[in-house]
Amino acid sequence: MPTSLLTLNDGTKAPWIAFGTGTALYSKDAQQSVIIAIQNGFTHLDGAQQYQNEDSLGAGIAASGKPRSELYITTKLGNLQPGDTPKSAIEESLRKLGIDYVDLYLIHHALPNVGRLKDLWIGMEEAKNAGLTKSIGVSNFTADHLNEILEVATISPAVNQLEVHPYVWKALQPTLSLHEKYNIVTSSYGGLSPLVRGRGGPLDPLVERIRVRLEHARGSTVSEGQVLHKYFQQKGILVVTTSAKVERVQEYLDTENVPELTPDEIKDIETAGAKLHKRFFPRNWPPE
Ligand SMILES: NC(=O)c1ccc[n+]([C@@H]2O[C@H](COP(=O)([O-])OP(=O)(O)OC[C@H]3O[C@@H](n4cnc5c(N)ncnc54)[C@H](OP(=O)(O)O)[C@@H]3O)[C@@H](O)[C@H]2O)c1
Repeated sequence: MPTSLLTLNDGTKAPWIAFGTGTALYSKDAQQSVIIAIQNGFTHLDGAQQYQNEDSLGAGIAASGKPRSELYITTKLGNLQPGDTPKSAIEESLRKLGIDYVDLYLIHHALPNVGRLKDLWIGMEEAKNAGLTKSIGVSNFTADHLNEILEVATISPAVNQLEVHPYVWKALQPTLSLHEKYNIVTSSYGGLSPLVRGRGGPLDPLVERIRVRLEHARGSTVSEGQVLHKYFQQKGILVVTTSAKVERVQEYLDTENVPELTPDEIKDIETAGAKLHKRFFPRNWPPE
């Protein structure tokens, strides 16, 4: 089944689930993992300058044999070296990736750039206007950070990629309201955290109950991870995940075939999530 697409506020479309080359692959050779991801059906690859592996992401893309036009490639602006701009930095990324444009270019972090977010955003617009990226967006931006760049933006950010899962859902409400107002797609990293990094919370029994119901409805296996990924998909959230295992790569993509959660189940996940506030990537967010 082809991966379903999300429409961004600039009219482009992005596959709703992406294979990431950070976290487990941070600063490591990503080539083999990327080949496996693409050969099993991932078309959206999420990289970053900071991951120090754009060259091996590019090598994996080339070795996969998949035409560039059938792939959606994201990279992120890291710490700018003196004299560099978002445009010169993406030129270097494109050289490493071995391609002549990316689909999505994000400012990776707001916190180290407070005081110069407006300038950076103007630079992101320059990169887009030069045809080096189809879309531009941000990552780890609070509502305040977004409001700051919106003061100068002639192009609204298309995506904000941040830690999103039920244990931060309530705290994210001011940011998510702004996403709604400007039609910014919410992208989730660390989405499986309640299951893989923070077991023992109020979601555990609920996710298991929903998993069992979906498995009966489907007549074949449904995993707990698929319950959370299906929840994100139904909310219109772009999921960025990763795995070192072929079976898990296949499981992630198979989420498309899992039956939908009911509106009550979606509400129950948010109610249970609101009982515990927990961030698993706290350094990417202002102190709370
Ligand atoms: N913008 C940012 O600042 C930022 C920050 C963090 C991440 N990201 C992006 O998001 C991508 C994904 O990040 P993430 O690792 O946080 O994604 P995630 O989807 O929350 O977690 C994926 C990890 O969960 C493990 N996993 C999945 N199902 C499991 C199960 N049933 N039991 C045990 N472990 C299980 C996988 O391990 P296995 O390998 O064993 O399958 C994999 O390492 C990164 O690669 C990066 O591209 C961006």
